[in-house]
Amino acid sequence: MDYEQSFTQYEQDALVAIGVATSAEMLEQARIEFLGKKQGRLKDLQSVLGTVPVDQKPIVGKRFNEIKERVTAAWEQKQLTLKAPKKAAGSELDVTLPGAALALGKLHPLTQTIEEFKDIMARLGFESEEGPEVEDEWHNFVALNIPEDHPARNPLDNFYLSVASTVNQEARLLRSQTSTVQIRTMERRKPPVRIVSVGRVYRPDQIDATHHMMFHQMEGLMVGPDVTMASLKTVLQLFAAAYLGESVPVRFRPSFFPFTEPSVEFDVRRGNSWLELGGAGMVDPNVLSACGYDPEAVSGFAFGLGIARFCMMRHGIDDIRHFYENELRFLQQF
Ligand code: PHE
Repeated sequence: MDYEQSFTQYEQDALVAIGVATSAEMLEQARIEFLGKKQGRLKDLQSVLGTVPVDQKPIVGKRFNEIKERVTAAWEQKQLTLKAPKKAAGSELDVTLPGAALALGKLHPLTQTIEEFKDIMARLGFESEEGPEVEDEWHNFVALNIPEDHPARNPLDNFYLSVASTVNQEARLLRSQTSTVQIRTMERRKPPVRIVSVGRVYRPDQIDATHHMMFHQMEGLMVGPDVTMASLKTVLQLFAAAYLGESVPVRFRPSFFPFTEPSVEFDVRRGNSWLELGGAGMVDPNVLSACGYDPEAVSGFAFGLGIARFCMMRHGIDDIRHFYENELRFLQQF
């Protein structure tokens, strides 16, 4: 008698019968046939065992037990699988598992600030405009009255992407200021205009608590028949009061920009010191002419404000780098 062959045959048949069972009834049938105590294939094997010569009994007996255990384990495993709760049809999602609520995302604090800025300016009658971040020298410098030898055009102080050549008619750079949108707007539209433009600007500055090589500015431009320095001061004062509170003291200091004349720096009082928030001034007649406006007929003011500074001031944020590190513990606070 070849015990081994009967054992192997028994195990194979049993595992197939268990494997194909798709219901409790089929599995029960397999149990009766292959694991039944009173009769069935296991009982048959057991009677074969009785005929084994005494000296082989320990080895064959051990083999019999191994096979019986494997078949029993396969049967128990299958029973668990058949009993397990059904998954929703067509999905891997087990809807019976307990759920955990997902925390909803929020807008980035700078995005929240930008939306609020645009809202305030919209109430003052300023439309929102956009301009490209990759610019040519005409819009970033030339039309803004910044001559070739001006230090602001130093290649080391700008992110140039390409130089002028026979292939590229014009050099390209990442815009270093949103004042480019003043030019683009006046080239496209006739006066009067009253716009703001919010966006990123790029300068290869050393990164520290108050400087980054990429930051956000809000540019403002108002041009019309009788726009004056008083209009500029009023708009900036109203804007600061709307964002920082009615009582916030503001200050205008004489300054210089190639594209405004006269020019000012705009500060607000914080504790015991003044904080510089941006530059402003009356649009230089050369800039108006470069865009096809008649400086004899219209005048205008422009301003450029750093967005992060306002947000940092309102929320007591001490380092501009927090905005760009995507640390959830920081972002979740807004
Ligand atoms: N473009 C200037 C800057 O980036 C700010 C500015 C804008 C000044 C408009 C005057 C008028 O520093």
